[in-house]
Amino acid sequence: MVNAQPPKNMLTVRDNRTGKVVDIPIQDNSIPATAFKVLKAPRAEGEREENETEKGLRIADKGFLNTAVIRSEITFIDGDAGVLRYRGFPIEQLATKSSHLETAYLLIYGSLPTASQYKVWQDEVLHHGVMHSDAEQFFKSFRYDAHPMAMLTSAFAYLGSYYSEANPSLQGQKLFTKGDPESLAVMDKQIYRLIGKATTLAAMAYRVRQGRNFVTPPTGLSYTGSFLYQMDHLGEENYKPHPVLEKALDVLFLLHADHELNASATTVLQTGSSLVDPYSAIAAGCASLYGPLHGGANEAVIRMLISIGKPENVPGFLEAVKRKDKVLSGFGHRVYKTSDPRSFIVRQIADEVFRVTGKDELLETAMALHHEAMKDDYFVKRKLAPNVDFWSGLIYRAMGFPLDFFPVLFAVPRVVGWLAHWRQMMLQEGGVKIWRPRQIYVGPGKRDYVAVDERVAEEGPRLTPSPVVHSG
Ligand code: ACO
Repeated sequence: MVNAQPPKNMLTVRDNRTGKVVDIPIQDNSIPATAFKVLKAPRAEGEREENETEKGLRIADKGFLNTAVIRSEITFIDGDAGVLRYRGFPIEQLATKSSHLETAYLLIYGSLPTASQYKVWQDEVLHHGVMHSDAEQFFKSFRYDAHPMAMLTSAFAYLGSYYSEANPSLQGQKLFTKGDPESLAVMDKQIYRLIGKATTLAAMAYRVRQGRNFVTPPTGLSYTGSFLYQMDHLGEENYKPHPVLEKALDVLFLLHADHELNASATTVLQTGSSLVDPYSAIAAGCASLYGPLHGGANEAVIRMLISIGKPENVPGFLEAVKRKDKVLSGFGHRVYKTSDPRSFIVRQIADEVFRVTGKDELLETAMALHHEAMKDDYFVKRKLAPNVDFWSGLIYRAMGFPLDFFPVLFAVPRVVGWLAHWRQMMLQEGGVKIWRPRQIYVGPGKRDYVAVDERVAEEGPRLTPSPVVHSG
């Protein structure tokens, strides 16, 4: 009997090289890339052996445009509709009703905490804010003008050196993957430490740049209140951060806490997949976040606005963007093809902050840029709209943060999301598989070593090391 209707949850693929037909199961609207490996073919006449055609078909996806690398329960984004949900809760509800630390619990453990669960969580995180006094030497060893992201990235790796009990290289590679109460306790202690100390390390990077002595994290303040204290406090009695600024920073932290598999979260998972300790994985994520296409964009937006100067210069700037001479930082997103939902919330926070600090002089330019770009065909056609970074930099500037500190203000709250993804991966069903992607090798085929006096020089840009000017 012929089955005329193939099963619905199946993709039928025919390899025209061999005529082979395979049925590939579709689960959760995805197909396993490994299913294509069975499609093997003899090498075509003249085909390179490096194509490994007889070993099975490979899937090419430069830049991970359509590759799902993990099953996740943490964050959902619908980029066409402008939807962002943490563990099912719309970001707009969390931003108005929750706090960064409560949302951190939600992201990492999956549910909103009860009052008593929250108290334990908050106490543990804040309790773990204190750094060993040796860390002062570490921060002071940087040059006076070191970028704070260089300090923060190194500081996370440095922090790991204090906790040999949390290092799978020393304690056994299954330290975090067992999922038993003992293993979970070790894991959660590192989570308290990393979230608790992220603000302390960031504040130390800030103070060393300002030439201020370090301060011990205070008690009795919120997470962001404590962070502001650690940066601002100059010996005043009864220092209290401004409540509007403290709240604004808390909401900004919550909005930045996670964003699914962005470049830095993916880096944390890639690094963590070797079962390295969480401090090293977070340091790697921090490095990835620093790039101007990711967490460095908030700093880049302000540098761009400063370079534009006045609203009158916006049309000229946009022409340069359209010629591809410049990039409109704070616009565009791999996932959102409409406005980033976080950008609306950030825009509201900006108004609240400006009521306290006064308006930023670059606001008019930013508004003109936003207005012009949103009606310009170039941006409309490419579905380029503001992302979270377009407005956040203006708030940080109004609050008095130095420009190069902006990516730090993104990295500190993102530690939460990185840890949520790392913890989920460590505990995932079936254990952790090292992330080892494939490549398409297009380099030279096998060739034999040539003695030095028989070589013909290959010259040209990129083919030889560039000459450099020695300044010393
Ligand atoms: N300004 C001008 N043109 C842009 C911009 C931009 N900000 N973003 C994308 N484009 C153009 C590209 O040149 C390309 O045009 P083309 O089709 O004529 O070649 C098209 O739009 C598609 O862009 P891609 O680069 O393919 O989009 P991708 O998804 O790879 O990149 C990214 C997304 C990196 C965010 C990009 O939009 C960008 O560089 N934005 C500016 C930096 C920024 O704001 N980053 C923060 C991201 S959000 C975050 O990390 C919190």
